[in-house]
Amino acid sequence: MTENSRTIHAPDALTPEQFGQLAAAGGAAPSLHNSQPWRFRATDDRAGLLVCVDRSRAVPATDPTGRALLVSVGAAVLNIRVAAAALGLATRLRLFPDPGQPDLAAELRFVPPGPGEHPSVDAALHPAITERHSSRQPFTNRDVPERLVGELMAAADQEGVVLAVLEEAETRRVLELTTDAERRTAADIAREAELRSWVRLEAPASDGIPAAALGPLDRDARVPMRSFTGHPPTGVPASARFEPLPQLATFTTPHDDRSAWLRTGMALERVWLLATVNGVRASVLHQAVEWPDTRWQLRDPESGPGYVQIVLRLGFGPPGAETPRRPVAEILQLD
Ligand SMILES: Cc1cc2nc3c(=O)[nH]c(=O)nc-3n(C[C@H](O)[C@H](O)[C@H](O)COP(=O)(O)O)c2cc1C
Repeated sequence: MTENSRTIHAPDALTPEQFGQLAAAGGAAPSLHNSQPWRFRATDDRAGLLVCVDRSRAVPATDPTGRALLVSVGAAVLNIRVAAAALGLATRLRLFPDPGQPDLAAELRFVPPGPGEHPSVDAALHPAITERHSSRQPFTNRDVPERLVGELMAAADQEGVVLAVLEEAETRRVLELTTDAERRTAADIAREAELRSWVRLEAPASDGIPAAALGPLDRDARVPMRSFTGHPPTGVPASARFEPLPQLATFTTPHDDRSAWLRTGMALERVWLLATVNGVRASVLHQAVEWPDTRWQLRDPESGPGYVQIVLRLGFGPPGAETPRRPVAEILQLD
């Protein structure tokens, strides 16, 4: 390396261990089929992290526009912000900072807190990053307490996203749309084949969904859980009795562009971590978002314009099983 090309590290440069902690946190985020479509690169001055989309891990039949891909990457960004807060650092965040690099989703710069520089997320969420998992099991009938619902809505609002916990009539409408979408997906050969390709029933892997993380289908066909292994499912307990009226929450954005999808991911993960800290479990019901017409119909006709990006089922019940992640060395580039 010549004198000219030597990298100048900023005075507040992070250590490789700290970058490792940030990348591990980002990598623990939820993603469509556990595809983990992200790569992280330290900035030249080592005071920041670039979050890039990994297109080789896209799920094109199910997610042709890359909406779920960017929601997943947004969730990773939120985890990194929480991990930075746990290191005592504030984060300056720019989404799509370079129009010439569309796959550069976010630039995060880490600074010690000072006047006007505060972590925008609570470090108390940090333990939930590894604890959080999708719980596809039946939940009990106990409602999420009103106080917590208010806090979850505020958490989404901090990311510019509207969280609505649905009343009974809306819940039934969204369940119907999800059932319709699940049925259509089951009849779509390309989507079914793609889904199966992410299920890991036997060999251990560093991505995809292992058998232990799959759940039963609802015996009464009220809660349309995604069937990852066909209809009827194979390799998982076939059916169980689910809660009669699940508590569903929708995430809605005012626009429907790439930044909105990233923001949805940040809001989803912020809400999910806060729920986890409070002992509330969750799983995503994404099927209706994956078809343009059912996605459109997810909008609540009463609440005006907006785009529903995610449907989340919340409740009390068993924790979700652990799911694998790619090693940090595979997702983090230091130079
Ligand atoms: C955009 C998006 C869509 C998802 N859709 C579904 C879904 O429809 N059904 C489901 O059971 N899980 C869904 N998930 C959850 C992922 O399968 C899960 O996050 C991933 O397998 C990693 O597992 P974990 O959440 O337990 O860490 C979705 C996650 C994201 C981010």
